[in-house]
Amino acid sequence: MSPAKTPSVLLVDDARDMLELLRRSMNTMGLTPFTANNVFDAIELLEHGPVHLVITDLNMPEVSGIQLVRYLGEHFPEVPVLVITGYPKLEDAVHVMKLGAVEYLVKPFTQEELREAVERVLNALGTRAEQPPAAEEDRASFHGILGRSEPMQEVYRIIERTQNNRATVLVTGESGTGKEMVARAIHYNSAFAAAPFVAVNCGAIPDQLLESELFGHVKGAFTGAITNRVGFFQAADGGTLFLDEIGNASAAVQAKLLRAIQDKEVTMLGATKPQRVEVRLISAANNDLPAMIRQGTFREDLYYRLNLINIHLPPLRERVLDIPLLVDHFNHKFSKELGKKPLRIPARILETFSGYPWPGNVRELEHLVHRLVILKDGTVNMDDLPAHMKMPAPQNAAPNTMVSLAEIERQHILRVLEAEGQNKTRAAAILGIDRKTLREKLKGLG
Ligand SMILES: Nc1ncnc2c1ncn2[C@@H]1O[C@H](COP(=O)(O)OP(=O)(O)OP(=O)(O)O)[C@@H](O)[C@H]1O
Ligand SMILES: [Mg+2]
Repeated sequence: MSPAKTPSVLLVDDARDMLELLRRSMNTMGLTPFTANNVFDAIELLEHGPVHLVITDLNMPEVSGIQLVRYLGEHFPEVPVLVITGYPKLEDAVHVMKLGAVEYLVKPFTQEELREAVERVLNALGTRAEQPPAAEEDRASFHGILGRSEPMQEVYRIIERTQNNRATVLVTGESGTGKEMVARAIHYNSAFAAAPFVAVNCGAIPDQLLESELFGHVKGAFTGAITNRVGFFQAADGGTLFLDEIGNASAAVQAKLLRAIQDKEVTMLGATKPQRVEVRLISAANNDLPAMIRQGTFREDLYYRLNLINIHLPPLRERVLDIPLLVDHFNHKFSKELGKKPLRIPARILETFSGYPWPGNVRELEHLVHRLVILKDGTVNMDDLPAHMKMPAPQNAAPNTMVSLAEIERQHILRVLEAEGQNKTRAAAILGIDRKTLREKLKGLG
C-alpha cells in the first residue's frame, strides 16, 4: 500500500457483494478503500499500512471479526473500528464496544447511515490527533474550543484534571456557550478516548420508551421488540455518556438515572440479570438546577451525583477578550468553505461586538459571521450589522436620556426577540421567563 493523501479505509467482509458495495461508498466519500475477505488478509494489509479506519463484518467463517477488533486494540490502538453485522446479537455489540470498536452499524443500513457513521468516527479521530499546547502559557484553544481569556484557561485546566478518572462532570452555562464542545473535549482528552462517546438528549426521551432507550431490551420484551437492542448505557460502556439538557429530564428519567448511577449496573428490559457498566457521565444544563431543586422539579440526590466536578461556561459578554479570536476563526472557516477571500473586519465593528450582550453567545456570533461571509465581499461596515446590534446598550444611555425601568425592559425584550429571529420560545428561555409571561408582556407593549 502506498501512502495515500486521503484517509485510507480497510474493508473486511467475507461477502464479495458487500465488499464491493462498501468499496463504492468509500470512493463516493473521497476515501481510499482497501478490501480483504478474511481476517488474515486484513492483518497483512494493516502491517503494510497506513490505515486510518477499519470497517469490518463480525460473522465470518474461520476467524471472526471480533478477533480482528481484539487484534487492532492490541497492535493498532490508534486505528478506529466501525463494526458491521447482520446479526445484532447483544453480546457481540457489548463485547466489541468493550474491545475498542468506536461505532456499530446493523445490516441492513442505508448509504446515509453508513456515511454518517464513517464521518463520526473520522471526526472523532481528528479531534483526538490534535496536540495540546504547552501547559504554562495561555492557550488560544483546547481540542477545538477557542478562547484565550482567563475563564477559558480555567475551563481547560479543569478538563485536564478529569483526564484519568471517571468522575461525573456537570457543564453549566447559557445556550450557545459551548457545553457540548466541552463534553467532547473531556472525552477525547481522557484515557478512554478510544471508547465510545454517546450523546443523549434527556428532554427528548418519551417516558414509555425510557427504559428501553437507556438500558436496552431483549427480544420479546414487548410487542415490536423483535431483536435484542443495547441501550445508551451499554453503547457507551468503557467511554462517556453525555446527558444533554439534563434539566429537561422527566421525573421518571431522573429516577432511573439515579438508580443506574448508584448501582453501577443496568438491567435490560425483559432481562433477568443486571449487567455492570463502566461509563463516565457528563451532563449539561442551561437551567438553574439549584433553583429547580428548591422548586422540587429536580432531584437533589441526582444533582450531587452528577456534579462531582462542575465546569461553568461564562456567557460571551463576560469574556469579550475572546471575541476577536472567535470572529477571526469563523471568518476564515466560512470563507474557506465558500471559496472566498476572508472579510476585512475593522476595529470599529469589533468594538460594537464587544459592547453587545450576545444572548445566544458563541452560536449567535458564529451565525452572524456566517451570514456576513455569505452576503459580503471585502470590508464589513456598520450598515451590514443587524439593527439590534447598533442600539446602544441601555446601561450606556446618556444621563439626559434616562429612561424608566419599563423602557429598558421593553428595549431588552425587543433586542432578544430580534436576536432569536422572533422565536418566542428561545427568547423566553434567554429572558428567564416562560412563554406565557413573554406573551403578556408583548401584549402590554402593543
Ligand atoms: N469556545 C468556542 N470556540 C469555538 N466554537 C465554539 C465555542 N463555543 C461554542 N462554539 C460553537 O458554538 C456553537 C454552540 O456550541 P455548543 O453546541 O457546544 O453549545 P451549547 O452550550 O451546548 O448550547 P445549547 O445549550 O444551546 O445546546 C457550536 O457551533 C460550537 O462549535
Ligand atoms: Mg448543547
